[in-house]
Amino acid sequence: MTKYGFLGTGNMAKAMINGLLQQNILPKDILVSSPNSAARLSDELGVIALPAQELINQSDMVILAFLPNQLKNITSQLNFKNRVVTSVLAGVTLHELSQAINTTQIVRALPNVNVSLNQGVTALTKTELISSNQLVVERFWSLLGKQYEIAEDQFAVFSAVAGSAPAYVFKFIDALAKSGADKGLSFELATEIVTQTVIGSANTLANSDKTAQQLQDMVASPGGSTRAGLDDFNQQNFDDVVAHAIQATINHKHL
Ligand SMILES: NC(=O)c1ccc[n+]([C@@H]2O[C@H](COP(=O)([O-])OP(=O)(O)OC[C@H]3O[C@@H](n4cnc5c(N)ncnc54)[C@H](OP(=O)(O)O)[C@@H]3O)[C@@H](O)[C@H]2O)c1
Repeated sequence: MTKYGFLGTGNMAKAMINGLLQQNILPKDILVSSPNSAARLSDELGVIALPAQELINQSDMVILAFLPNQLKNITSQLNFKNRVVTSVLAGVTLHELSQAINTTQIVRALPNVNVSLNQGVTALTKTELISSNQLVVERFWSLLGKQYEIAEDQFAVFSAVAGSAPAYVFKFIDALAKSGADKGLSFELATEIVTQTVIGSANTLANSDKTAQQLQDMVASPGGSTRAGLDDFNQQNFDDVVAHAIQATINHKHL
C-alpha cells in the first residue's frame, strides 16, 4: 500500500492524518517524524514514528509539515532520493523548495484545516511529475477534500480566501451567535443554531445554479426584515470590511 510520510506533526499534519484515517488509510501506512510529538501520536493513533531519513526511505510521498523558517535547517541533512515531496509550508515557493530539496518531484500545496473532515480545499502547483507520482499526489489530496491546481502567483489570495477563511467564517458565526445571545438566546444554543444555518446555507449555495448574491435576494423579500438587515450591512460597508481584512491577510509576511 502507498505510504505517506509526514515530516512535522503539528496542527496541519494532524488534521491531514485525521482525514486519512477517516478514509480508512491504515495507521501503519502513515509514517511520522518530529522531535517531540511524533512518538505521542504513534501511541495515540498507531501511526509509525521514524527518524526522518528512515521515513523518507520508506515513504511513497513525503509531506513537509514543519514551520516555513525550518526548511533549510531540516532538509539540508536529508536525502530525498527523488521521492515526490509535497510541501504545505505557507509562503515557500516551488523554486525555494527545489533549491532546498534534492528531488525534481515537488508539489507546493496549501490546504485548509477542513482536511480533517475530508472537506478541505487545497491549492496545488507542481513541477512536472512522473505519472506514478502524479497519481499518488492526486489520490492523497482527493482523500482530504477538493483540490485546485492554480498559478503560483495566486497562492497568496487563495491563502486568504481558503486557508485563513475558516477563521473568518468562525468569526462571523461567533458574531451572529453573540447577537442572538444579546437578544435572549443562550450563547450555546445560538452558536448551534447559527452553525447549522451556515452548514445548510453553504450546501444550498453549493447545490444551486444561483450566485450568492441571487440567493441573498431570494431570502430577502422587498420590504421584509431580512432586506432591512441586508440594507444595514450595506450601510456599514460590510463588503469593504471583508475586502480590507483579506488585503491585510495577503500583505502579511509568513514567519
Ligand atoms: N495550521 C494551518 O491551518 C495551516 C494551513 C496551511 C499551511 N500550514 C503550514 O503547515 C506547516 C505546519 O503548521 P502547523 O500549524 O501544523 O505548525 P505547528 O503546529 O507549530 O507544527 C510544527 C511542527 O514542526 C515540527 N518540527 C519541529 N522541528 C522539526 C524537525 N527538525 N523535524 C521534523 N519536524 C519538526 C514540530 O514538532 P514537535 O511537535 O515534535 O515539536 C511540530 O510538529 C507550516 O509550514 C504552515 O505554514 C498550516
